[in-house]
Amino acid sequence: AGQPKLIVEADAEALARTAAERVMARIAANPGRSAICLTGGSSPKKLYQLLGSEAWRGRIPWDRVHWFIGDERFVPESDPLNNMAVARATFLDSDAPPGHVHPIPTTAEDPDASAAAYARELQAFYGADRLDPARPLFDVVLMGAGPDGHTASLFPGYAEIEETRRWVVGVAKANVAPFVPRVSLTLPILASCREMLFEIAGHDKRPILTRLLNGENLPALRARSNGETVWLVDRAALPEEIRG
Ligand code: 6PG
Repeated sequence: AGQPKLIVEADAEALARTAAERVMARIAANPGRSAICLTGGSSPKKLYQLLGSEAWRGRIPWDRVHWFIGDERFVPESDPLNNMAVARATFLDSDAPPGHVHPIPTTAEDPDASAAAYARELQAFYGADRLDPARPLFDVVLMGAGPDGHTASLFPGYAEIEETRRWVVGVAKANVAPFVPRVSLTLPILASCREMLFEIAGHDKRPILTRLLNGENLPALRARSNGETVWLVDRAALPEEIRG
């Protein structure tokens, strides 16, 4: 996998617009059934609002796009911490056909059972339980970088980051808030995409972005697409020396 491409935007609004354009371009480039892997936390919220706005929602070919999620907090759908519930409420529920939204089920008895169920769902959608490098699972995988360098729910120093066989794993305890169990796609599955798109914005992200740019071997740096990896950052997140 190639080096990430760094794209710097003036602010969080410009960053969300560029992210939306890139998602749309990847959908347009795939004439068939398109699959987008969403993410949680605060980073994608502006993008989701934009995609749900009058100007953008009409541009999405809803009937041929499927929406997945890279990680989930193991809480009910009704909980405000539920990542897919946020995406649904912000932009999916008004336009996506019901069968096109693929949440990680959190009604299973534990995160491992939930992970196994989602792995089966992904494999059924893909039509195989082995990934063919010539046929990526996703068009776009959205990602964020947490303060400790985690991405999806793959935390530094945890065994799950090394997983090469399973598609989805349960994570008993999160390394940062919210301290609820998680369910996460693994690095090789997230890598199976045409584009992995990180959104890293705001002053609070400066310490972790600095560490990542310094090459620290953290999950957010290890996560790479087999296709293109893009880091979309805003000026506020950039380390002083680079910002000028
Ligand atoms: C989650 C997210 C998570 C996120 C990073 C960044 O469930 O928390 O999917 O992995 O991408 O933690 O979080 P923020 O965007 O909230 O900073």
